[in-house]
Amino acid sequence: KVICLNRQIFLNGSSVNCPRKHSGWQEMTIAPFIPYPARPSTSGQPLVSRVSHYFDKEHYAYVGHRIVIQESIEHFGAVVWPGALALSQYLESNQEQFNLKDKKVLEIGAGTGLVSIVACILGAYVTATDLPEVLENLSYNISRNTQNLNMHKPEVRKLVWGEDLNEDFPVSTYHYDFILATDVVYHHAALDSLLATMVYFCRPGTVLLWANKFRFSTDYEFLEKLCNIFNTTILAEFPESDVKLLKQWDAQ
Ligand SMILES: C[S@@+](CC[C@H](N)C(=O)[O-])C[C@H]1O[C@@H](n2cnc3c(N)ncnc32)[C@H](O)[C@@H]1O
Repeated sequence: KVICLNRQIFLNGSSVNCPRKHSGWQEMTIAPFIPYPARPSTSGQPLVSRVSHYFDKEHYAYVGHRIVIQESIEHFGAVVWPGALALSQYLESNQEQFNLKDKKVLEIGAGTGLVSIVACILGAYVTATDLPEVLENLSYNISRNTQNLNMHKPEVRKLVWGEDLNEDFPVSTYHYDFILATDVVYHHAALDSLLATMVYFCRPGTVLLWANKFRFSTDYEFLEKLCNIFNTTILAEFPESDVKLLKQWDAQ
């Protein structure tokens, strides 16, 4: 068990931000992380176990499905962020307005995969993407939550913002109806690359659904840049988590 005090988890002499919304202190359970799937050694060398930590699995329910998400405290992308909860809830509640059935959906910075799983349950062809180091946990969550569904099989791919987009996702082959992004804007150095990625994938007819917790002036600066490029409307606000959900689409 670890103690989280004022949303700082103290572990092994250092601290990490707590993704949960709570005040004061909270006791949390962590357990050894077992990479999935557990693979036997093929090299003949004994396997060195990778010891890290993850929270207990989180359980969610959307669109009549129970979704189990394995989180980790090792990486920003391995916990569910408030924007993901906001967009999942919105997609569930607004299926007529945003009908994902048979639509091509790309999620960037997918993290644990919760939003991609919800989109898949809603009938979309989903491609969930993130940094290479996040893909193992992302693939695990997506596969365990979608394998018994009679839906389009989702895909998990590496997509580093601004890198190799033309090579990996050529314009001639890839056109998405929806780009989904949750809590991808925070204090990091890749904001320009993120913007370039959104612009790259938002073609005429594409809708970008972006849910984000707004904290820093840089978050609002990013929003302003997007507004200068795309038509923008606020679909919903979640004051309890400071999340805004925005819809952006190409003006052409
Ligand atoms: C704050 S987390 C949000 C995760 C998830 N969307 C959610 O809301 O739960 C930000 C995500 O962006 C991803 N990310 C950060 N920098 C990135 C980059 N340069 N290229 C691609 N993904 C990146 C992280 O790996 C992480 O999954």
